[in-house]
Amino acid sequence: MSEPLLPPIGMLAELTHRCPLQCPYCSNPLELLKANRELDTQTWLDLFSQATDLGVLQVHLSGGEPTLRRDLEQLIAGLSARGVYTNLITAGIGIAEGRIEAFADAGLDHLQLSFQGARPATTDRIGNHRGSHEKKLETARRARAAGLPLTINAPIHRHNIEEVPEFIDMAVSLGAERLEIANVQYAGWALANRNALMPERAAIDRQADIVAAARERLTGIMNIDFVPPDYFAIYPKPCMGGWARDAFMVTPDGTVLPCHAAQTIPSLRFERFAERSLADIWTDSPAFNAFRGTEWMQEPCRSCERREIDWGGCRCQAMAIAGDAAATDPVCIKSPIHARMALLIDETRRAAADISADEAFIYRRIGAVTELA
Ligand code: SF4
Ligand code: FES
Repeated sequence: MSEPLLPPIGMLAELTHRCPLQCPYCSNPLELLKANRELDTQTWLDLFSQATDLGVLQVHLSGGEPTLRRDLEQLIAGLSARGVYTNLITAGIGIAEGRIEAFADAGLDHLQLSFQGARPATTDRIGNHRGSHEKKLETARRARAAGLPLTINAPIHRHNIEEVPEFIDMAVSLGAERLEIANVQYAGWALANRNALMPERAAIDRQADIVAAARERLTGIMNIDFVPPDYFAIYPKPCMGGWARDAFMVTPDGTVLPCHAAQTIPSLRFERFAERSLADIWTDSPAFNAFRGTEWMQEPCRSCERREIDWGGCRCQAMAIAGDAAATDPVCIKSPIHARMALLIDETRRAAADISADEAFIYRRIGAVTELA
């Protein structure tokens, strides 16, 4: 390993896969876990306490929809008592009266609210839930009234990319401190829906210009994070900051993973919190050590000057496109199969021209994967 093993700083806790929405780009795996597989309250609290002993400073409480957990206040309070920064990642639907205030009272530090569109019709169609836009606006107002800092998260794809200016106006009007314009990356459900979601290159360029101008205009008012789509890039991002480098995630049944899509790498076996301590998994799990640092790298990554900047990009994308998790991420211009990215974009655009967008979505829900097979 090229650098000493450091403690993790961040953890993403997927408390549940249950969700009232069915977004076709969800980062959850295609095989969703039912409620009876979820860890109970005490096990999550034990896990959090081991995580903080290990060094974790920030916990992102996510799902599915984490507010469907009736013990969420307790989980937040447990983290808060240990001085952890907590961020709730929510779709903002169906949160009972008084609960957002209760989250704030329990010590929640920040709320991140996703919008599927900037227009009600888009939000309702992408999430497949009528009336969801209005409910989200209400959640944003309640979060601000409870004194919580707010980030609006906008996952961008072909069906809402022209709404970017409206997303920006909406986030300002809701008093958000931050807006994430995050282009959908093609893993999980988004990979299954790639034909339906892939935008045109010209739209990506327009979007980048709009975000750049808005950032300048809104300096000191609202920060805008911009995550461009991998397929259109020439260098990859350091996925999760590098494999098992400073963060990890836990699925609803306590499986500990380096990233969202790690279970798509068939050669790796991932361990559950109940089987082993977090410290043991972080330090010794063969799956965590498989792509740590730079020693595992093949050429061109092995001798590349960017190898400790992007850590070779995304292992799961290398698996999905190159068929080898240890290959250079094909997004990289130095990858021998980089040209395949442009071909994939063209292929998806041709496929999308044949079918109507509505018919093309495979909405996220339990059982959809069996129908796909
Ligand atoms: Fe990153 Fe590897 Fe490409 Fe170099 S060759 S830029 S390390 S992905
Ligand atoms: Fe697994 Fe990028 S999603 S490394």
